[in-house]
Amino acid sequence: MDTKKLGFNSKLIHAGAYHDEFMSVTVPIYQTSTFSFNNAQHGADCFAGESDGYIYTRIGNPTINALEKNIAELENGFGAIGTASGMGAVTTIYMALLEQGAHIVSGDAVYGPARGVIESHFSRFGVEYSYVNTSNIEEIEKAIRPNTKLLYIETPANPTIGITDIKAACELAHKNNIIVAVDNTFCSPYLQKPLDLGADIVFHSLTKFLNGHADIVGGVIVAKEEQLYKKLRTMMVNMGPNMDPHQAFLVLRGIKTLSVRIDRQQENAMELARYLENHPKVEWIKYPGLESHPQHELAKTQMKGFGAMLSFGVKGGYEAGRKLMDNVKLATLAVSLGGVETLIQHPASMTHAKISAEGKIKAGITDDLVRYSVGIEDLEDLRNDLEQALAKV
Ligand SMILES: Cc1ncc(COP(=O)(O)O)c(C=O)c1O
Repeated sequence: MDTKKLGFNSKLIHAGAYHDEFMSVTVPIYQTSTFSFNNAQHGADCFAGESDGYIYTRIGNPTINALEKNIAELENGFGAIGTASGMGAVTTIYMALLEQGAHIVSGDAVYGPARGVIESHFSRFGVEYSYVNTSNIEEIEKAIRPNTKLLYIETPANPTIGITDIKAACELAHKNNIIVAVDNTFCSPYLQKPLDLGADIVFHSLTKFLNGHADIVGGVIVAKEEQLYKKLRTMMVNMGPNMDPHQAFLVLRGIKTLSVRIDRQQENAMELARYLENHPKVEWIKYPGLESHPQHELAKTQMKGFGAMLSFGVKGGYEAGRKLMDNVKLATLAVSLGGVETLIQHPASMTHAKISAEGKIKAGITDDLVRYSVGIEDLEDLRNDLEQALAKV
């Protein structure tokens, strides 16, 4: 069946799926490291790319490929590359596109280690970097140098929930021959399609919304064009941060319910955001669905929904936020996000702890910022949980 013509919800279930010789309804787990050849010529043909046969799981595997085809279709890309983790996707992109002397312009409030690995490690190999507020296109423009090779955007940003205008950023980057990669983890292709807005690469931590059940770590990269896809796949195969077949099977299972999960999560998120905005103990809140969010209008144009991530500050700063985190009972105090269960964490001391104090201030990762990933529990229970915890602050 040509799944390309199907709607998004049908694609979630059917894109990339195939029936094996036993007509299994779900894609089987091909838990093997290697594949046998019919004869020596067949082996040589597989290595020469003249036969479609599988060779070795780091290079390709039917379960992983089913997931890659599924996500490539969801993101409207040429092809996808599964990776061991979201950071495996990030570092594969960096390795493929940044050589010695190259420069990257990146959002200052991106996932902490995606920034940390540039500042601490890629810099050792002569990669230059500028971290700017990508919500402000002028800041991106000012940071561009003749050797800028990559513009790295995360929108909504983690954990400030700032929104970047993907279309405008891509137009600017392409005028300067710069490749644009967008971290779409917070939205998933259900809510935002960066390739349709002009990006060259979109990538995810599959650990989050796409899998949705907090039981795997994984990543994926999707390229819009064949040439870039091949470059990224070659880098992944050579460097070795490949996905595992069992991981791919679990994501294929989780992804089928992506849209129903997110619908429920963002419905809860909108209500909780309104509740927190009006709570006397809450100093500030950032959620793209609130009219008070500085890029609410932009969010409406490039996102299909406002997602399930909110950040807020409790009156009394860090100590008050700590009290809240120590007293919630239904929300779980844990890093990660996007699963069916609600999670709460403190980025300044957890996910973004390695960013310098100065970098955190510039990026807006304040000490009072509490990040809340909304799950699919009953709204009433989540509200009561916050109410009783805020009462103790
Ligand atoms: C927005 C974002 N991108 C990338 C990553 C890295 O993904 P992983 O933890 O799967 O390596 C994370 C992890 O929290 C994230 O939140």
